[in-house]
Amino acid sequence: MGSELLKVGVLVSGRGSNLQAIIDASERREIHARVVVVISDKEDAYALERARKHGIEALFIDPRAYPGREDHERAVGDELEKRGAGLICLAGYMRVLSSYFVKRFYGRIINIHPALLPSFPGLHGQLQALEYGVKISGCTVHFVDEDVDHGPIIIQAAVPVLADDDEDTLSARILEYEHKIYPRAVQLFAQGRLKIQGRRVKVERGIFPPWAVTNPSLED
Ligand code: GRF
Repeated sequence: MGSELLKVGVLVSGRGSNLQAIIDASERREIHARVVVVISDKEDAYALERARKHGIEALFIDPRAYPGREDHERAVGDELEKRGAGLICLAGYMRVLSSYFVKRFYGRIINIHPALLPSFPGLHGQLQALEYGVKISGCTVHFVDEDVDHGPIIIQAAVPVLADDDEDTLSARILEYEHKIYPRAVQLFAQGRLKIQGRRVKVERGIFPPWAVTNPSLED
């Protein structure tokens, strides 16, 4: 692997558990990628501390220090480019990216969302699923386009909703799978196996599971 590692920049605003999953997979050499910089729009984001603990450069770039959204995004983009980031992962980044940023990096920005898109985009995807009454929700990693939680889908995990779930229990069950599918998506990208074809992402040499999930089970 050595010199071939894909350089990844991660944008965060908070806790950073998905960032941690990517760092851990990288350190275990499960993915041909390493995080070269973590950038937050919140000074106190715990994700910044996680990065520093692993010797990864952690930057707070304050949106309030710039006259407009694009100016802030230009600064973020410049820092990413300076470090040669070939992939930008949004991991709990709470800002909507402008078309300026999306166009600058299109096809190299991915995001994770805690629902099976296109259902329940936006904030509180897990609670939206719960309130709607779906029996299966999950999580999605997708390329970022100019609409929120909308771009071409790379990988999804289906997670059952249980009768006595509340937002916290469902979020925790989904999060476990977020931590599996995000590093997986990074690896597929690093291997050059993702081809965007309109709305669809072709996964080269992808192995498809020969099963479907039902909830409740077909068996008792
Ligand atoms: C995750 O649920 C992710 O799907 C959503 O924001 C949350 C971030 O959590 N986009 P963390 O900061 O990675 O722990």
